[in-house]
Amino acid sequence: MTTIIAVGNQKGGVAKTTTVMSLGGALAEMGQSVLLVDLDAQANLTLSTGADPAKMRGTIADVLMQSANLYSVSRETSIPGMDLVPANAEMDLAERFLPVRQNYESILRSAFNGQEAYDYVLLDCPPSVGVVTQNALNAAQLLIIPTQAEYFSAHALRSMLGATRRVRQQLNPALVTRILITMFDQRNRIHREISEQLRATFSDALFETIIQLDTKLRESAVAGLPITHYLSHTRGTLQYRALAQEIVQYVQETAQQPD
Ligand SMILES: Nc1ncnc2c1ncn2[C@@H]1O[C@H](COP(=O)(O)OP(=O)(O)OP(=O)(O)O)[C@@H](O)[C@H]1O
Ligand SMILES: [Mg+2]
Repeated sequence: MTTIIAVGNQKGGVAKTTTVMSLGGALAEMGQSVLLVDLDAQANLTLSTGADPAKMRGTIADVLMQSANLYSVSRETSIPGMDLVPANAEMDLAERFLPVRQNYESILRSAFNGQEAYDYVLLDCPPSVGVVTQNALNAAQLLIIPTQAEYFSAHALRSMLGATRRVRQQLNPALVTRILITMFDQRNRIHREISEQLRATFSDALFETIIQLDTKLRESAVAGLPITHYLSHTRGTLQYRALAQEIVQYVQETAQQPD
């Protein structure tokens, strides 16, 4: 069975792309086969794997415009077991023209229909709750919302949860949401307070794992590698490995539950 995980938050710079890349690396390390899908015109995920977006022949935009099959535009990365569907600036066009298509919010979901080639598919959403993120939420079983423990993150979190609720009511009732605290600074009092509030408010809907600040995560993106394959024992690697363990365990537990 393929588990499709969307990583989304309308707020920019909260570590969506970093989480997709690092979690992908950690899952691949565990022997899981992984497909990363870049859904953002900024193409940061594509760049993070060391690929040049401008040189990509087939991209996720072709899939959304229904002119290519998802698997015909996927390519290998330097990490064994981890493939990528790239994006480039054409994604802006796709986003603009998507709403004129029939059932446009289900195109990505249909693209995965009957395909079981990977254990995990990770969708890197753009920083908005437009039609592309809607497609991702409709296709996914699990949504990870990375958020910083900052005062201004609460509004984005609420609006993301609102979007999730709408998708669950109208399109994808099985969608489960989990919040992930990222870029946490242990010495920062506000971070400590807000993370406690998040824990009290969301309890089980918050991952146990918290991702702390680690500048090596920035370096690994420049090196074109997931942190797990860039530095095996840095804090970011250990914490994203812990997140991968939590997710694999969650998937095993839900698979055992009767429908
Ligand atoms: N735990 C961390 N510690 C330090 N830096 C981090 C951490 N996580 C992410 N970063 C850095 O923060 C920046 C933003 O991260 P990233 O690009 O993953 O966010 P994003 O949510 O995908 O942004 P966008 O909304 O633009 O797509 C990047 O430079 C990244 O390397
Ligand atoms: Mg990003």
